Amino acid sequence: MKIAVVGTGYVGLVTGVCLSEINHQVTCIDVNKEKVKQLKRGESPIHEPGLSELIKKNIKRETLKFTSNHKEGFKDAEVIFIAVGTPQLDDGSANLDYVKEVAKSIGQNILKNTIVVTKSTVPVGTNYMIERIINENIVNEVKVKVASNPEFLREGSAIEDTFHGDRIVIGTDDEETALVLETVYKPLGLPIFKTDIYSSEMIKYASNAFLATKISFINEISNICEKLGANIEDVANGMGYDQRIGRSFLNAGIGYGGSCFPKDTHALVQIAGGVEHNFKLLKSVIEVNNIQQKSIIKKIKSRIGNLKGIKVAILGLAFKPNTDDMRESASIPIIKDLISQGAVIKAYDPIAINNARAILPETVEYKQTLKETLEGSEIAIIITEWEEFKRLNLNMFKDLMKMPILFDGRNCFDLDQFKDSNIEYFSMGRPPVNAYMSSNVKELL
Ligand code: UGA
Repeated sequence: MKIAVVGTGYVGLVTGVCLSEINHQVTCIDVNKEKVKQLKRGESPIHEPGLSELIKKNIKRETLKFTSNHKEGFKDAEVIFIAVGTPQLDDGSANLDYVKEVAKSIGQNILKNTIVVTKSTVPVGTNYMIERIINENIVNEVKVKVASNPEFLREGSAIEDTFHGDRIVIGTDDEETALVLETVYKPLGLPIFKTDIYSSEMIKYASNAFLATKISFINEISNICEKLGANIEDVANGMGYDQRIGRSFLNAGIGYGGSCFPKDTHALVQIAGGVEHNFKLLKSVIEVNNIQQKSIIKKIKSRIGNLKGIKVAILGLAFKPNTDDMRESASIPIIKDLISQGAVIKAYDPIAINNARAILPETVEYKQTLKETLEGSEIAIIITEWEEFKRLNLNMFKDLMKMPILFDGRNCFDLDQFKDSNIEYFSMGRPPVNAYMSSNVKELL
């Protein structure tokens, strides 16, 4: 089938590339000409495992093309996917400007009957607005059908999630449109759930809000565990055996970040408010997360005291491993807070440093290796649970740091690993190991 995908962000690019891999003829469209040039050369503008290889492969076998021209991209398309961003506005609601622009352009440029599918996360009812805008701008004698098809892939495992996802949701009022979309996705062999447009749009927000709720819930339990001396890992494992609960998304830490959960939870609170429903539970989920991101600072201060002049090694900057995405990463508020208290920051991330430079204060010193980052530091903080950190030889902390005090925001290690290690280890929701073993911090400085 001939498909156009508008928007080459995480969702659009991965969708387009994966659809080309299952033998559709795909044209990805983006207004950013530089990005299109880069993509035409077979280079991925984002770090996503396996993506560059699939881009190159499908350009070569001519199932994948890129353009910045809507007219050219829409020319033969039987199905157009809208996958442009819906960033957060100041009041928390979703900004639909890009979606509206694309809808207008579809109306102006399509030459044949087309199915327009929205992958962008949009407030309930938006697909009807898209249909109206297209029809208001339609130039040729053609008909358009719309469908909602929310995306559930995660950054860092986007390709894997597309080919092995739990479900594909198709929301449309037209049985024929649903059948065409089923045909598009058939080669993936995944369960397909068909529903109406409103419900489909809500499934996306409800899913992300529920996952965010799981995280804030376990973080609250984790904070209580810390005070009582219980171990959150064991608690989550014990809870996870119950199939009604499940173990996934029960990893306590310094909260959720990224381009989705923060934005979509705020948007759902606004959507609820729009129909005069006060979504108290979700408001608390957001509040808990905001507090959780900075909870590690409280822990550091109660161990170290005044942070002025303290040399801090930051391990990990991205909002999660396997991505260079810094959006809403816990590293941002944590580093800004540490700097405001006079701490001196050295930071390392395997791939997010370039993106971090544009966001973090200029005083942050970036290092190319873990060794250089730890050398001479008084405390180390793990922000992102990169595999590279989990496999670290703990002697590195002891040998390289001035005082081996490690604050682990992502519970990368078993507590047992620190017994007899002479490293002070503070993690999330678990008892500290070797606490206060180092001499008084002030004496050492
Ligand atoms: C999330 C959803 O998981 C996807 O299904 C959805 O398609 C996507 O948003 C989206 O709406 O586009 P993503 O933001 O890429 O995906 O990443 P996740 O793996 O869900 O992680 C989000 C945040 O939650 C990260 O900061 C992660 O560290 C945190 N997290 C996750 C926890 O703190 N604990 C957990 O147990 C799991």
